[in-house]
Amino acid sequence: MKLRKVMAVSLAAAMALSMTACGGGSSQPAETPAPTEAAAAQGETKAEEAADAADAATEAAESVEKAVEGKDPAEIKVGISIYQFADNFMTLYRTELENYLVNELGLKKENISIMDGKNDQGEQMNQIRNFITQGCDVLIVNLVQASSEPTVTEECAAANIPVVYINREPEAEREQAWVDGGIKATYVGADARQSGTFQGEEIAELENKGDADGDGVVRYIMVQGDPENVDAQYRTEKSIEALTAAGVEVEELVKMRGDWDQTKGQEITANALSQHGAKIDVVFCNNDAMALGALQAIEAAGRKVNEDIYLVGVDALVEAVENVMNDKMTGTVFNDYFGQAHTAADVALDFVNGKDVEKVYMVDYVKVTTENAAEILELIK
Ligand code: GAL
Repeated sequence: MKLRKVMAVSLAAAMALSMTACGGGSSQPAETPAPTEAAAAQGETKAEEAADAADAATEAAESVEKAVEGKDPAEIKVGISIYQFADNFMTLYRTELENYLVNELGLKKENISIMDGKNDQGEQMNQIRNFITQGCDVLIVNLVQASSEPTVTEECAAANIPVVYINREPEAEREQAWVDGGIKATYVGADARQSGTFQGEEIAELENKGDADGDGVVRYIMVQGDPENVDAQYRTEKSIEALTAAGVEVEELVKMRGDWDQTKGQEITANALSQHGAKIDVVFCNNDAMALGALQAIEAAGRKVNEDIYLVGVDALVEAVENVMNDKMTGTVFNDYFGQAHTAADVALDFVNGKDVEKVYMVDYVKVTTENAAEILELIK
């Protein structure tokens, strides 16, 4: 972006130079000697001409820059709806999204409207309709239910407003339908399969492969997010797949939905611990908020992470990364909200400026264990 700006400005400067060269100066017969007064008058004319040329240069620079850069960012209006403000991870995400739009891309804070979907699809639909009526240039939507994407896309397309979906991925066939139908919609996220695999590997890479009691079977509980969400489905499935792929025999003791929520994570783990006690080797949580809850339950039950039980999450919340450094969590997985927020904002502006946009953008996850936790903390703090 910056490079393009520099190029646009130098192109304009070159044009301005050539305009000056072709302008008034050359109409003056260079050899004709002029009387002093006339020379002064001519000097004034030249000064005016130079000023005009400078103005023309500025105008040319502005118009070339506009042609290259598109709409003035200060005039772009963005409507953002987040599925629920109470979600820890999405709070980090939306803060970074706004920060990047304003401080890096030059949008005005008052032109960015961020709404709380309150985990209610009806409420979110109203917000989206308001954005459309208000004439937003582009929407960034973290759907409450991924299944409502067709309605949202249809209404946005009818109003010719592009939409960037984030965090909750619509179905793959729908993404293809955007391409086939020439619809301005895209998804920016991270491949949840990768985060699940990383969780399983973090356990499989332990010396005892997660078999805390050494009885030959890794018994686990699975604290799920919202099971309608692909992030929850894939993390649940792929974490165990990675463990069995490493030759580990597993047994699932409990699988329950905790809706990404710390309190529910605590309750589910507390109940599982009172029911299954020392049999539990590993607590898998689909995210860190629930892992923080699980840790409360583990500590209340007098168990010790990395000694007689293992615990993994996803997101790399600051508290979770600190826990990894202090042997209170075995590992987590960095859900790169910087990369996701920046990509979402960049493609939103690409849409506004009529540039080509892909149907899907995926940002990589990063494993977080004691080995790199300090480094990751540095990045997120
Ligand atoms: C996941 C994240 C969860 C939660 C969820 C919301 O990617 O790991 O903590 O924020 O998105 O959809």
